[in-house]
This record gives sequence, structure tokens and C-alpha cells, in this order.
Amino acid sequence: GEELDVKVARNLNRENIADAVTQLSDSIIAKVVRTRKPVIVSDALRDDEFASSKSVIHLKVSSVICVPLLDRGRLIGLIYVGNDSIRDLFQQDTLRVLSIFASQASLIVANALLMNELRIDNKRLHERLEQYRFGEIVGTSPLMQAVFRKVEKISATDISVLITGETGTGKELIAREVHNRSPRAGKPFITINCGAIPENLLESELFGHVKGAFTGAVANKQGKFQAADTGTLFLDEIGEMPIELQVKLLRAIQEKVVYRVGDTRPETVDIRILAATNRELEKEIANGRFREDLYYRLNVVQVELPPLRLRGEDVLVIARYLLSRYAREYDAKVKGFSPNAAVAIRKHNWPGNIRELENRIKKAIVLCESSVIGPDDLGLTGDVLPQILTLADAKDKFQRDYINEVLALNNGNRTKTARDLGVDPRTVFRHLEKEGGEPGEAEGSSM
Ligand SMILES: Nc1ncnc2c1ncn2[C@@H]1O[C@H](COP(=O)(O)OP(=O)(O)OP(=O)(O)O)[C@@H](O)[C@H]1O
Ligand SMILES: [Mg+2]
Repeated sequence: GEELDVKVARNLNRENIADAVTQLSDSIIAKVVRTRKPVIVSDALRDDEFASSKSVIHLKVSSVICVPLLDRGRLIGLIYVGNDSIRDLFQQDTLRVLSIFASQASLIVANALLMNELRIDNKRLHERLEQYRFGEIVGTSPLMQAVFRKVEKISATDISVLITGETGTGKELIAREVHNRSPRAGKPFITINCGAIPENLLESELFGHVKGAFTGAVANKQGKFQAADTGTLFLDEIGEMPIELQVKLLRAIQEKVVYRVGDTRPETVDIRILAATNRELEKEIANGRFREDLYYRLNVVQVELPPLRLRGEDVLVIARYLLSRYAREYDAKVKGFSPNAAVAIRKHNWPGNIRELENRIKKAIVLCESSVIGPDDLGLTGDVLPQILTLADAKDKFQRDYINEVLALNNGNRTKTARDLGVDPRTVFRHLEKEGGEPGEAEGSSM
């Protein structure tokens, strides 16, 4: 009664058979599908079982052998060999050969199906990741989505942006993204780390110097401002900028004019300013370490990067992203995190934020002995997942604990407990017997 739907069929000439159904005996196939056992028919037109089958008559079938392709008991296809002129073509030894062939074919087909599933899975994951990627920045949490929207809006403009956030939260990444999405994208993106350059060299680094301006100034040299001309200048760790230089910086930004150290000739520059800090500049202002006027000049718009602990599931999404990125880069065979590792990543509070996560992942990829990264590889404590029970055992355990809990709430009163739980008092009694609890306790003693 069931309609046969052939997805693919090939003949001996390796041609795809378009209308396979019309060339096969559906009653023979139906039997193999039903029984999952091979069928040999020697003379179909005279066969008790199949002689009356329309397809057999119509196709003038005489010899047929048909074996199922099984993958752990699941029918994934079948091999059908038929002939319309020779009787008794197939014997038990043909069946043996075909069965061996069929088991090989099943393996291959099952693998192909699995591969296909994996490919689809992978593609879906990839698409999801793409959806939550903003350049190199991954973030699914509402806080990060809000950051992305803001960055998108400000990128098109020339406004100064102050990027704040704890260390390792992606401030530099955001700065690059602002630049890459701005009309200045093809132009230079120049970073200066104000905290990493000795104070006496910082002015020259920023604005350049002329030969002989100071000991060691053996030639003219341009500064970061000149290098960033027509592009973007990223003032990283702006909170470390010495207060004396802040006046000069403010003037340069406001007037778009700079003077090299040892020179009085002005140079005009066309730059967009981005700045970042992990310090609370308001506090620095209160303590006299940061100029308020510079602060307002830099902080036209502020992008605040939330710490990882406020980004929910992001930590795992970022971890997976970094894993696949560095596995590719190091050409490592690592495939993913173990469930325990995933839970450990999620639970760990990341003081060094994403940079620390990144470092641990890099190290784990290089040192990991298997294809799956465990909590130990990440230097995180394992044992975070409870021991896995079968569902039946888990239900059982829950039920025991729950009854005990309600019993405790009812001071051991079984009748009341049974009523609360909506079960027969005998259920509670049996439970207590199994627990080896006080069987002699008076029923309903505190009613
Ligand atoms: N959302 C994210 N998705 C993927 N990678 C990220 C993300 N945020 C940060 N990273 C990675 O983490 C590392 C630290 O980021 P970044 O250098 O931008 O942080 P930072 O805030 O400037 O840190 P610091 O304050 O220490 O200078 C970088 O290697 C970056 O690629
Ligand atoms: Mg940084």
C-alpha cells in the first residue's frame, strides 16, 4: 500500500535511473523494506508470493535478488538486481557475495549521510557565528550588540571616540573596527601606546622632531600625528599620558596643527582621533592627573566595553571562535572543548578577560594531547559536571531526594507528605523502606 519513493538509483552502466520505480518490482522491495532481510526470487512469474504482483507481471521479471543496506538496524537503502529473461539466476552464494558488498556499501552510505549532516551542522554554526560577528569581534550578548550598533553609527563620522573597559576587553579591536568602517578605512591607522613610551620621548613620538633637537636626534623624524595624516590616530592607554603633554595634545587635536620638537614651523594634519583607557578618567581628573578639557575633547562619544562576566554566553562563543581560529593558524587537529571544559570556561571568572582566555586557548591547542580540549588543558579545574546518570537513575534520584525533602518539611509525617505529593501513603511508606528509614514510626503522629 505504501508509495515507493526512490531518491537515487544507478544501473550497471552507472547511469542515473530517472524513473527507477517503474523498473523495479515494488512488491519485492516492499518485502525487503518490511522484513529487512534479503530476498531471492528465482522465477517471479511462477512464485507463490509474487506471481500476482502487478509490477512482476508488467516487467516480466524472472530473477531478482534484493538486499537491504542497514546501518545499525536502520534501513538506509537497498540493492536490487533484476533480470527479465533468465530464471534461477541467483543462488545462496550470490547472496553471500552481495551481502558482503551490501555491508560495505552500508558503511559508505552511512558515512556519507553522517558527513552530510555534519556539514549542514557546521554550516549552521558558521552562519550563526557570522551573524554575531562584527569584524573580528564576536558578541551575542545584548550588551555587545548595543556596542556594535553604536560603533556602526559613529564609524561614518569623524567624531572623537573614547573607548573604555577593563583590560583585555577588546578596546583595540573596537578602535580598528571603527577605522575599518569609516571613510578613512583605506588610509593609515596609527596606534600610539601612551603608557609604553618613556615620558621624555613621548612628545617626539607624537609630533616628531628635527635633527639636533635633543641628544640622539640625529635626523629629522616625523611623529605619529604626521604618519596618521588623512587616517586615524589611536591614542591607546590615554590615561597614562603625562599631564604636561596633555596641553600640547589638546592643542594639536583642536587646531589640527602640530610642531615637531625643536621646530617652530606648524604642520597641518587631517586626522580622526580615537582613544582608549582602562582607567576611570573622572577619578584621574578629580585627582588632578588628567585635564578635564582634554577629557571632553576626546570623549565626544564613549564606547564602554562590558567585562566578560556581564556578557553571558559570549565567553563560550568567543572561546569557540578563538579555538577554531588558532587551530587553523597552528594547523592543529584540535576539534573542540569537552563538555566539562565548556562548563569550566563558562564558570571561571576571567580576571584577565579575553586576553587571558585567548592565551589559555592558544596554550591548550599547542599542548593538548587529544583532539578535544579538557578543563586541565586550560588550567581550569575539572569535575564541574555532576556524574552523568541514565535518565531513569536521574529521575529515581530526584524522586528520592524530593520525597525526603517534603518529608522533612512535614516533620516526617507520611500521611501529610503523601497528600502534599498527591500519592498513595503506601508510596511514601515503600520509599522509606527502601531508604532503610524508620519503618516503625507512628502513622500520622502529628495530625
Ligand atoms: N569580542 C571578542 N571576540 C573575539 N576576540 C576578542 C574579543 N574581544 C577581544 N578579543 C581578543 O582579545 C585580545 C584582547 O583584545 P584587545 O587587545 O583589543 O583588548 P584591550 O581592551 O585593548 O586590552 P588592554 O586593556 O590589555 O590593552 C585580542 O587578541 C583580541 O583579538
Ligand atoms: Mg589595548
